Amino acid sequence: MTGPDLLVAGGEVVVEGRRQRADVEVTGGRISGVVAAGTGRGAERVDAAGLWVLPGMVDLHVHLRDPGAPHKETFATGTAAAAHGGVTTVADMPNTVPPLLTADDFARKVVAAAPQASVDHLLWAGAARPAEFPAFADQGALGVKVFLAGPEQGRQYGSDLSIGDDGRLLEVLAAARDCGLPVAVHLANPAIERVWRASWRGRGLHELRTQIIDESRLDKVEAAGRVLLLAEHTGAHVHLVHISAAALPLVARARARGVRVTVESFAPFTSTDDFDRLGVMVYDRYRRPDEVAELWRAMATGEIDTIASDHAPHTWDEKLAGDRDVLTGASGYPELDTIYPMLIDRVLDGHLDLVRMLEIAALRPARLAGIAGRKGAVAVGRDADLVLVDPRGSWTVRAAECASRAGWTPFEGRPLRGRIEQVLLRGRPPAPGRGTFLAPDRQEQAGNQRGERS
Ligand code: DOR
Ligand code: ZN
Repeated sequence: MTGPDLLVAGGEVVVEGRRQRADVEVTGGRISGVVAAGTGRGAERVDAAGLWVLPGMVDLHVHLRDPGAPHKETFATGTAAAAHGGVTTVADMPNTVPPLLTADDFARKVVAAAPQASVDHLLWAGAARPAEFPAFADQGALGVKVFLAGPEQGRQYGSDLSIGDDGRLLEVLAAARDCGLPVAVHLANPAIERVWRASWRGRGLHELRTQIIDESRLDKVEAAGRVLLLAEHTGAHVHLVHISAAALPLVARARARGVRVTVESFAPFTSTDDFDRLGVMVYDRYRRPDEVAELWRAMATGEIDTIASDHAPHTWDEKLAGDRDVLTGASGYPELDTIYPMLIDRVLDGHLDLVRMLEIAALRPARLAGIAGRKGAVAVGRDADLVLVDPRGSWTVRAAECASRAGWTPFEGRPLRGRIEQVLLRGRPPAPGRGTFLAPDRQEQAGNQRGERS
């Protein structure tokens, strides 16, 4: 009888919510044993003494710009950035050029992505054409993505993807419910935004500064209330992305009424100092200190289900444009190389418990995506997607060492505690072409849509 082909020996592993030293045995790319330290076997041995053996992050919100903008990112460079940062599963968003709107677009992306991909991946489909939803469901889409932004913002989100009125949103939610597809929602109110945009026109970011941050809470909260009402009415599952802390009380009330809602946060890593220093680079991810505190609190309690990078690579020039006229600036920044290391740093500085962090960064996203049979935890039967971290190590973020094609990071020069020593995808180092397309297990996904919580 042949034994395991790999042994990751003596590391610290989170097993069923508890940290313990263990040996991890890997057979054919899957975890075949998690046993007492010193008792495991394996043809090949990796010494993990003193290291954390974490599951790879499952990041359900990335913009890989493929097809359409290879100067910013491709499936190859974006998934290389993921692999570098310990993110072994990503879910790509449909606002590409052209956008992913049809079953044919979906099929093309599946075929184009796999040979380039360094990590496993799922795909979100655009929500603008409900007639396509049954095909998306059959093809293995994670779900559909709704951008509630108006046509003025189409430049950034792809105007074909905007669902700017409530009637269409109602149709989208009903169709998604019928097909068992979760609906990721980018909250916005185009009518309110039109008024703001008129007053912001021609003004640079530094002039407007916190006005934007404060004002934009209104439309996010208004949209959250509206979407939750429509979700309640239709019975669709909505997944509210980059949630505003101000909308969390509405989510709590909706959950109490049985609305199928999950929420995602980006990680609020930028401070007032960063905002003063980096302005245009970070303004769209900057939150006031009270809101940042609230988001970390909600991550710790589990009110926030998942954390995602919202990896949004743009060229430097596109970002700088916002300094002159905020309406022409691009929003978002590249984060796949850094999101997991930054979260690990926050664990090591006491912001967030390790077990909790792994729940929102790996376990719950895997459940939401219907891939928890394979991903999201270091446990027998799961894929051996392992990230070995030296908790006593440290490093400094440098764009030059990042794999994203964006070529810059707002976190340049930031020292981080904890150092990723090794990343394994199904037991071996990630490499272009090793990543595979993942289709959700709909039953498992549906269980989580009903708000079954760990
Ligand atoms: O900040 C953002 N950037 N939000 C989005 O929804 C789109 C994204 C992008 O594609 O750059
Ligand atoms: Zn996004």
